[in-house]
Amino acid sequence: MDKIRIRGGKALRGKVEISGSKNAALPVLIASLLTEKKCHFRRVPNLQDIRTTLKVLSHLGVSLGSESSLNQNQVELTAAIPASSDGFHEAPYDLVRTMRASVLVLGPLLARFGRAKVSLPGGCAIGARPINYHLFGLERLGAEIALEGGYVIARAKKLQGAKIVFEFPSVGATENVMMAAALARGESILENCAREPEIVDLARALRAMGLQIEGEGTETIRIQGRDSLNGCTHEIIGDRIEAGTFLAAGLGSGGSVEVMGIAPEFLEAVLVKFEEAGATVERKPDSIVITANGRPKATDIITQPYPGFPTDMQAQFMTVMTIAEGTSVITENIFENRFMHVPELSRLGAEITIRGNNAMVRGQAGLVGAPLMATDLRASASLVLGGLFARGETIVNRIYHLDRGYERMEEKLAGLGADIERIR
Ligand code: UD1
Repeated sequence: MDKIRIRGGKALRGKVEISGSKNAALPVLIASLLTEKKCHFRRVPNLQDIRTTLKVLSHLGVSLGSESSLNQNQVELTAAIPASSDGFHEAPYDLVRTMRASVLVLGPLLARFGRAKVSLPGGCAIGARPINYHLFGLERLGAEIALEGGYVIARAKKLQGAKIVFEFPSVGATENVMMAAALARGESILENCAREPEIVDLARALRAMGLQIEGEGTETIRIQGRDSLNGCTHEIIGDRIEAGTFLAAGLGSGGSVEVMGIAPEFLEAVLVKFEEAGATVERKPDSIVITANGRPKATDIITQPYPGFPTDMQAQFMTVMTIAEGTSVITENIFENRFMHVPELSRLGAEITIRGNNAMVRGQAGLVGAPLMATDLRASASLVLGGLFARGETIVNRIYHLDRGYERMEEKLAGLGADIERIR
């Protein structure tokens, strides 16, 4: 299994190109199931989770076109799928267990074919992560849903547009139900929707496929369902979490980093916190520059649905706080059990106390390198940051989690002057 070796303590300087967003790409690729026409996607990040998605899609009968090359960040998909013999299109456990987002095939399969069978998801071990909001929304559109043998089995003759008020603005549930409503009869009104930039990107892709959809990025999304959709050409937005991670690296290492190819408004809640922590932040049209001014200052954060501070940046921000002047409180409101990076950061000399969903971080003058074990995706990134900020050598083991969500992270960090290498 691959590891990463870091010799820390260097101030990072320079520019880094941000990849396409993983969390935007997953639903957008899956939306190709809604049409038999060809869909061409650009700026698709070359990541393990994307390869898993392509496997799920190809298992469902979607064909990969000649222009598909993840090395060149392009994918061409055609879902000219005949109805299966028993009428069910199935996403099996073996494929779904490694990636929770596979459950997003449920909405489009059900809407187009009237039947779908999807294994209950696995993915990162960050809390229970049920899919009840997804199922609630699909039921409101007229689906009959049963849970059998670890599978969700969904049936509907033809989905009917409906008004759906979500209990919580879940990203995945909003996406799943948006895709289902696209092929439902009549209008759907979705309320208390997630407002994340990834939702807006999915709406743009659906619009490119000919859907009439409005309100994405607000609490209420209106969709006029259609009998069929066209193909599309769509470029994925930049990855705000990858960008935020590199900005955290710039700040915590005492350097200056520019992240290229990212809209600053996607990260506003994080940028404000970097400023509160003492950084100078410059917002440009398509890039962000962060410059450290000495040691970071203690800053509290509370994770919230967008536009609040993203849970996917919580671990990385905490690592910066481990070397800040003063004590900060980090509150995790989205997922239970999302402090798995804490015992590992402690191995570097960080002082962190957890009480419920709060972590109190007493900033230290410095960290010292140590061997570490990556647990989930964003936790892994926080450990790499810890290694960059610590004196001496850090080895981060089990980095397959990192490879699920960061494209060539060690190469990009080396480009900023980090002493980092992958050991195979
Ligand atoms: C997405 C992101 C993930 C991010 C999260 C929150 C993708 C592929 N993943 O995950 O990186 O951390 O948004 O920004 O885009 N919940 C339920 N029932 C449901 C659905 C969710 O109780 O049916 C709960 C979850 O357990 C969690 C909270 O709602 O506590 C938020 O989950 P959700 O917004 O759905 O996150 P994901 O779409 O899974």
